[in-house]
Amino acid sequence: MSVKLRKIIAKQITDVIRPESSASVNQLTNAFELRRNNQDPELHLPVSKARHILSPDTNSILKEVLHIKFDEQLVKGVTTNEKTPSTQRIVFTLRNEPFIREALTKSDSCTPSPSQQKRYVVEYSSPNIAKPFHVGHLRSTIIGNFIANLYKYLGHNVHRMNYLGDWGTQFGLLNVGIDLMQLSDEDIQKNPIQNLYNAYVEANKRSQADPSISERARKFFHDLENDLSPEDRKRWEKYRAYTIDELRNVYQRLGVNFDEYAWESQYSQKDIQRVLQQLDERSLLLSEKDGRKVVQVGDRRVPVIKSDGSTLYLARDIAAISDRYERLKFDKIIYVVDNAQTDHFVALFHTAGKAMPDLDGRMQHIKFGRIKGMSTRQGTVVFLKDVLDEAREMMKLRQIQSPTTKVDMNISDNQVSDVLGISAVIINDLKQRRQRDYEFDWDRALQASGDTGIKLQYTHCRLWSLFDNIPLQPASEVEPNLLTEAEAAALIVEIARFHEILIRSEEQLEACVLVNYLFHLSNAISRALKRLNIKNESSIQLQRQRLLLFSCAQSVLHDGMKILGLKPLDKM
Ligand code: ARG
Repeated sequence: MSVKLRKIIAKQITDVIRPESSASVNQLTNAFELRRNNQDPELHLPVSKARHILSPDTNSILKEVLHIKFDEQLVKGVTTNEKTPSTQRIVFTLRNEPFIREALTKSDSCTPSPSQQKRYVVEYSSPNIAKPFHVGHLRSTIIGNFIANLYKYLGHNVHRMNYLGDWGTQFGLLNVGIDLMQLSDEDIQKNPIQNLYNAYVEANKRSQADPSISERARKFFHDLENDLSPEDRKRWEKYRAYTIDELRNVYQRLGVNFDEYAWESQYSQKDIQRVLQQLDERSLLLSEKDGRKVVQVGDRRVPVIKSDGSTLYLARDIAAISDRYERLKFDKIIYVVDNAQTDHFVALFHTAGKAMPDLDGRMQHIKFGRIKGMSTRQGTVVFLKDVLDEAREMMKLRQIQSPTTKVDMNISDNQVSDVLGISAVIINDLKQRRQRDYEFDWDRALQASGDTGIKLQYTHCRLWSLFDNIPLQPASEVEPNLLTEAEAAALIVEIARFHEILIRSEEQLEACVLVNYLFHLSNAISRALKRLNIKNESSIQLQRQRLLLFSCAQSVLHDGMKILGLKPLDKM
């Protein structure tokens, strides 16, 4: 919302509340600014002034329509003296014609000018092939997808990247495990992630008793980096391909896409040596007595090369970022990875920034906390597919039992239940502040009435059924004098906040800003649907104005849901 509009609303509100009110337009305008900058969500007025402006009614208008809160004590102090007639709500909306027009007219204010357009690389999801796609990767996938969608929506250039882990001794163990269990290609192909995981677990278990297994694993990994036989390499690539196929399935269900799949293994020893040389030239590479190579980060000495010459996680990340910068020339690269890897990214940014000064300030680690207790009801398996299947099945049951279900569950192909289950999982995650650890609770996530993904989908479907049931087009011109009810006003104000909310979400890279806004929007839509009848309204003009209002609401809800990574449904 522009400052000009903010002033207009502030002025209208002041007029409505009390034309001779001593709370100036500027005070209210400042209140908006304060809220926007999140410095002080409350507007404090001296009691003498507050007496003119506060009453239970006006307070609730301000609270509901403008999200300004007054000190409850102050409100209580004046309730006995004054009462504002509720008709004044109407005056408020009537006087805000330019505001209403702008709110209900689609603008392209989201597109930045070419000079403000940025090129972002967002790396997210990044699971490991031998291990299950655990819930940490789910969070990275959901949060990263949101960030990439948001940047894209705001008109930036986005490159989505998935960096798959296929490196390290554990992948040697995986390979040995496959041999030990005599798994054929066909066996593996049947259920790749599960079977590869089993093989890894088996080798790991046996290696406890039999050191030769660890030795074989180490050798395999060493050869993988140096001179693996063509057959072994082919086999390795095949396992990765199976994993990718299965991952793609899950990503498709989640509605997540990538522009690039990158591998930890993709940098050869040669690439890595080149980067190490760069570090060395800047005296950043130190040698330990045992032959390891390390970098100094604050008071930590972080290893990059093992004593046997094998490369470590950090070395590969340094090689990767250098290659990415050369190829993609980004303004910023964002790594969406859990809190636990903070030290790693501090070391990466520190070292890469020194070795390649151009990169300094262009790297950001977007961290997040843990989800506790996410498992299927049967047990503690944390394969993502199982979690999503569980969500779908529970949703299906609820749909069958619900009297409001519109899809024919007898012929349903489960698609709707799947989308609903996934919406529940996504919103349950995104409504938290990123860095918080949280407890996963199926019942809470799947509620239709609380602040859940199901509720957003439900509201979206209600709007669709409205359009389906009325053979009229929304008005093409806004007529503010036909949208005068308090519920219409509240909804218009919500719609108008959308762009500002996106900017705030972008500043903080916190999805919960958008999620909470969509819950407010959803509530405003429900209230407006209750009050603003269309079907039984005799004036076609009025019907079409209301349809216009609801179609704007639908488009904002739709876009907001898409940015969060949901697939908005039109029937459920
Ligand atoms: N595959 C890693 C893991 O699961 C995460 C990779 C994060 N990205 C990176 N560039 N290091 O722990």
